[in-house]
Amino acid sequence: MRPTRSVIILLCPMLVLGFLYYSAGRLQLRTPVQKAQPDLDSLRSTGREVASVYDNQGFLHKLDGKLPLELQYKYGNLSKGECKPGYTEAKMTSIYPKFLKPAPMFLDKNFKRLSKISSYQPPFGVKTQEKIIDNILDGTKIYSLGSELDSMSCMRCIIIGNGGILSNKSLGSKIDEYDVVVRLNEAPVSGFEKDVGSKTTMRITYPEGTIQKLERYEKNSLFVLSAFKPVDFKWLRHIVYNKEKMRKMEGFWKSVARVIPREPEEIRILNPYFIQEAAFKFIGLPHNNGVMGRGNIPTLGTVAITMALHNCDEVAVAGFGYDMSTPRAPLHYYEKLMMSAIKESWTHNISKEKEFLQKLVKGGVIQDLTGGI
Ligand SMILES: *[C@@H]1O[C@H](CO)[C@@H](O)[C@H](O)[C@H]1NC(C)=O
Ligand SMILES: *[C@@H]1O[C@H](CO)[C@@H](O)[C@H](O)[C@H]1NC(C)=O
Ligand SMILES: *[C@@H]1O[C@H](CO)[C@@H](O)[C@H](O)[C@H]1NC(C)=O
Repeated sequence: MRPTRSVIILLCPMLVLGFLYYSAGRLQLRTPVQKAQPDLDSLRSTGREVASVYDNQGFLHKLDGKLPLELQYKYGNLSKGECKPGYTEAKMTSIYPKFLKPAPMFLDKNFKRLSKISSYQPPFGVKTQEKIIDNILDGTKIYSLGSELDSMSCMRCIIIGNGGILSNKSLGSKIDEYDVVVRLNEAPVSGFEKDVGSKTTMRITYPEGTIQKLERYEKNSLFVLSAFKPVDFKWLRHIVYNKEKMRKMEGFWKSVARVIPREPEEIRILNPYFIQEAAFKFIGLPHNNGVMGRGNIPTLGTVAITMALHNCDEVAVAGFGYDMSTPRAPLHYYEKLMMSAIKESWTHNISKEKEFLQKLVKGGVIQDLTGGI
């Protein structure tokens, strides 16, 4: 084909599509019931084009947290405080129509069929790590939350961030009421029960974030690895099989635990899709050809929230949000480090991430018990 012809063939459908898009836009503007009309007019008078009611990431611009009519009908009859089945998914879809709920919490023996993670390397996927993951899963044998939680018809989850904002709020007993309590990295429970609760369903960590003092591990909790690099899987294989002491611990950015006091059946691998989706879809961090790079890794807290959006009927958070305006406020609830200790991060983009979390809170998708987001 001659180049001019192919250009024309390409151009034609684009013109048709462009026209359709244009006329659809005009029709929408003319609809008399459009409540957004004044907004559109004011935007136009400032000389800006009205692109869409959705932002670049695909979230509704206007988030008021109100229940859409069909949800008011669906949940209207439940008594106050009752768990609302499917609520998180419904609210998320109402502010972000692209949301597709199915995404298992943990990897299981069918993980190679999850197409979204098979084309990305860690931390965004499993590419190049298939064999070692298979090997780990042979050892852990169980790939779900466990029969009691698996059989619940409505499950409420809370993600406990490690922020100093949790201190002195006495939220412990409220936190313990959730069906699933997710804790992150080394955040302690013992001695802080009044504020952070005493229940731990799972602890999601990466090797450098693990608790190193064995006695500080809670009984009856799942140990969940969120892998950020290939060596993290190597480390977990050592933990699961625990055959001999791991002699060299290279490739970590700080010292890591060599033993985790958990049976293999209490160990899980977090589905890396949540890192991928949070980074590229929800927050809009640089894709960088799908490999880890400057400012494109979401924090573990946001990864855990993303997991909960897909797997819980209701989602709450507590202990999230850094208040940079009070540099002397405590950074974590369990140590004296101050807010001012936070340095410009190479891996994370805290401010962009916060924009995403604020959309979830404003849209009423998640409830923020400490109000720091
Ligand atoms: C809620 O209650 C009304 C009136 O009692 C009933 O007509 C309706 O079907 C109920 N809705 C649901 C979702 O159960
Ligand atoms: C919490 O209360 C204790 C005891 O009253 C106090 O020493 C501490 O500074 C408080 N922490 C915060 C973050 O307000
Ligand atoms: C975070 O994102 C903003 C906006 O895209 C960008 O200007 C900034 O450089 C990013 N920060 C990091 C650490 O990547």
